Amino acid sequence: MTDGRYVLLGAPGAGKGTQAQLVCQRRGLTHLSTGDLLRAAVQAGTAAGLAAKQHMEAGRLVPDDVVFEVLFERLGAAGSGRAASGGFLLDGFPRNRAQAEELDRRLAALGTPLDRVADLTVPDAILLQRLTGRRSCRGCGRSFHLDFLPPRAAGLCDGCGGPLEQRSDDTAAVVSERLAVYRRQTAPLREFYASRGLLVSVDGHREVGVVADELLARLVPLPQPQPSSRRA
Ligand code: AP5
Repeated sequence: MTDGRYVLLGAPGAGKGTQAQLVCQRRGLTHLSTGDLLRAAVQAGTAAGLAAKQHMEAGRLVPDDVVFEVLFERLGAAGSGRAASGGFLLDGFPRNRAQAEELDRRLAALGTPLDRVADLTVPDAILLQRLTGRRSCRGCGRSFHLDFLPPRAAGLCDGCGGPLEQRSDDTAAVVSERLAVYRRQTAPLREFYASRGLLVSVDGHREVGVVADELLARLVPLPQPQPSSRRA
């Protein structure tokens, strides 16, 4: 169990969700994905979901105030529980400078600043292949790929057996808008965090388990055991 606070950066399709699940399981962190929180709000038909829907379908960023509402409500609700007092890994947040500065302010107020940020790098041509071939479980949200990570039974989740479906923003046209938005608004955050000495860069274009091992070692390293002091 780790009680640090971490961010996973990377383009759409870089493998943030896939890796976040593995890293959080192994380190006992809470996985907070703003994409998942927003999709849940859309599904539930809340005011935040209604405000987010059209932006998500077009591949644009959802306005910051809506994102803050869904994320900080979740963090705040956990103020008495794990996400604020235990460790967490943010996936898909922050996505622009205003979000990064707001996160810094909120964590500074709690006296719990970020520990480290990882940037997953993957070539553009691979991102397009990954996103258009992705299928996600309607039940548990687990992510598969028709070619790279096929489920054992076609169309069904290996974990919960739920039906697999394609996300509405994974069509080629919307993916190209999401990648353009990423380059314009999110990629500059690498410099934002590098200048604070928080950034590690990890090659995400390798086998899932290999990437996870490097993230575990470099993003969320386990504390080194202290040499035991000997009494004279
Ligand atoms: P979000 O859900 O966050 O989408 P994203 O960042 O575009 O990222 P993805 O979920 O598409 O990809 P991923 O990096 O998680 O990759 P995955 O592991 O699934 O956001 C969706 C929308 O919500 C945004 O466009 C925006 O509108 C809104 N939004 C969210 N957060 C926001 C914020 N903070 N501010 C404003 N708006 C916000 O992998 C992709 C595929 O590749 C899968 O099929 C997977 O199986 C496969 N794969 C993964 N790793 C590997 C590997 N190593 N080798 C081979 N295949 C792999």
